[in-house]
Amino acid sequence: MLKKFKALLPKPPFKSAGYTSRPYPVNTKWLVREVTNEDIKALLAVEREVYHGKLPWTKSAFLSELISPLPHLYLCVENEDILAFGGCRIIGNDAHITNIAVHPKFQGAGIGTFLLEELETFARQHGCLTMSLEVRLSNRDAQRLYRKLGYVSRAIKPAYYDQTNEDALDMVKYIE
Ligand SMILES: CC(C)(COP(=O)(O)OP(=O)(O)OC[C@H]1O[C@@H](n2cnc3c(N)ncnc32)[C@H](O)[C@@H]1OP(=O)(O)O)[C@@H](O)C(=O)NCCC(=O)NCCS
Repeated sequence: MLKKFKALLPKPPFKSAGYTSRPYPVNTKWLVREVTNEDIKALLAVEREVYHGKLPWTKSAFLSELISPLPHLYLCVENEDILAFGGCRIIGNDAHITNIAVHPKFQGAGIGTFLLEELETFARQHGCLTMSLEVRLSNRDAQRLYRKLGYVSRAIKPAYYDQTNEDALDMVKYIE
């Protein structure tokens, strides 16, 4: 579609979770803020870096999360570019971490931990009793992080990932 016509179409509403943007505590030149619809292109760029050109989430997957009527919080850390993002969606008493990724240049420096802690604060504010997530069975690094933060294994979901058929480890953290 021509760009000028596309610009005239109404934008799907961005539903803010009311998170107050603030400097990232370790490097106050960076900003922590909610992700908006306008950021999707930049999020896809981070995904490409993290997953070697592959895109586990498409533009429409991001969009449907950001406009979801369910309570949700998607955060990013940015300097000039977005260098990490992560988010959760609340269903009942559970806050489900749907996606988290840190640009390879910035991994292992605490950003993932920070984002997960912010999401947990959001979950507690919404009276959640658990946080949950799925992680590839082969993704030992991420599992180590989740275990360190108090997540435990709950089940294996066979052939959970469409593209590779890989099993997922279902993890949960009790936060009440
Ligand atoms: C998993 C991920 C989100 C963690 O974020 P992060 O900012 O690198 O993690 P942190 O620095 O807060 O925590 C580091 C801890 O996580 C683990 N870890 C995970 N990925 C790591 C990496 N690439 N480098 C170093 N440590 C890593 C280690 O246990 C480490 O603990 P340690 O410092 O005590 O050894 C990030 O590495 C990433 O984007 N990985 C690729 C995408 C992915 O796997 N997403 C999760 C899908 S479920």
